[in-house]
Amino acid sequence: MASILLVENNKELEKLYNLNFRVYLGLDPLPTSGLEAAFDQILKENNKIKLIVTKAEIEGQKVAQTLYEKMKNENLKIPLLVIGETEKEIESDSLTLSMSVGVDLKTLIRNCAQVANITAAEMVGLDVPNYFPIPSHYLGNIKSPICRTFFLEPGADNEEEYQTLFSPGDEITDEKLKNYISMGVQEVFIQKNDRLKLVNQISNEMISELSFEKLNANERAVAGEVQVNTVHDKFREMGITKETVNSAKKAMRDIAKDVKKNKTLKSMLKNLLSNKASYLYKHIQVLSYVSLHLIKHADWAKKEHEEKLMFACFFHDILLKNDEQAKICTKDEFDKADLTYEGKETLKHHALRASELARVFPKAPAGVDLLIRQHHGALNGVGFPDNFSPNLSPLSLNFMVAEAYTDKVIEAGDGKIHKPLIFSYLNRRFPTNRFKKIIDALDKIIL
Ligand SMILES: [Fe+2]
Ligand SMILES: [Fe+2]
Repeated sequence: MASILLVENNKELEKLYNLNFRVYLGLDPLPTSGLEAAFDQILKENNKIKLIVTKAEIEGQKVAQTLYEKMKNENLKIPLLVIGETEKEIESDSLTLSMSVGVDLKTLIRNCAQVANITAAEMVGLDVPNYFPIPSHYLGNIKSPICRTFFLEPGADNEEEYQTLFSPGDEITDEKLKNYISMGVQEVFIQKNDRLKLVNQISNEMISELSFEKLNANERAVAGEVQVNTVHDKFREMGITKETVNSAKKAMRDIAKDVKKNKTLKSMLKNLLSNKASYLYKHIQVLSYVSLHLIKHADWAKKEHEEKLMFACFFHDILLKNDEQAKICTKDEFDKADLTYEGKETLKHHALRASELARVFPKAPAGVDLLIRQHHGALNGVGFPDNFSPNLSPLSLNFMVAEAYTDKVIEAGDGKIHKPLIFSYLNRRFPTNRFKKIIDALDKIIL
């Protein structure tokens, strides 16, 4: 097997990328630590290395540039993929390529293949054995595998001797896994056709568990979206479990930190757009920003409302399956939507169902279920009314206005946000007096 060499100081990312290199590109990751060690490996193994992937900069050091120059001096011609911004000289070399965010795994693999000249046909037809090995420790990242996994008794090498390790539905505990590893099971095997499925499952979990404070803004935008989708999927499949609750709590913490880091709405939007975030993810992020800033202008607001809003932003549409459903907010949009009967039923009841989940969510902010139930203005959480009951809570009214505003901001994309147009729309949609103060306060949010 040819090798790949990765220079990346974030250990979590290193583990994640190496798994994907192994499975998608059929390249064997060489162990490295630091630039010096990496270069020693290159000198030693250069005829085995098919590709080098490196961060542009590590702790202020221009790693890619240094590597590039060293290789040039040694007259080594190995394809180089740089993650981050690079110098012009590197940029124009046909043996190199650069990209902004490695956590975007699809793009990462595509770029690797491009610069190393690995064709799509080669990737599919890789000389893959019927049972594909990956290091056992990767199973520690998931709670239960999506497909059957196997192990080989140490010493055996016959296909018949593969034995089932964990099957779908089996719980993978640290203890069980450690036991197997101590018995000499260093590698687990997956049937050829299942390998990408399992690797994607593991990758999504690994990305969701990344320490976000170690990531840059681009990486956080990409990882944040994977995290939200992974948690939402898990809730739809499993409902409230210890695992889903912990993942949701981490996701909410990461979003709250991210939202507070952004000084303006525009800077947040710019980052989301340049990283091609999905509608649902933009919706959660922008809505969190808008509702947090909006609530500051309500004279009755207290600190606890902030936590409630953050929870609701993350949770209110958790049962919707796709962006098309999440975009619908009014009766008119609902009636016109091209959805199956089942899709319409899900949509009609999503506020009620999500509020029921929030009610049994351990230590959810008190009363957040009410806010989630009312987020489309229906007291019972069903449907999309045009006229709103006088009994909706003030926090719900704030949330509804924030959501309508959010959608208009997202619609504007990287174009200009036409405030007068948006405000006249909001006044039409929320014509009564109790909304007026809230709409006025929107004007104070820093774009
Ligand atoms: Fe929503
Ligand atoms: Fe909704």
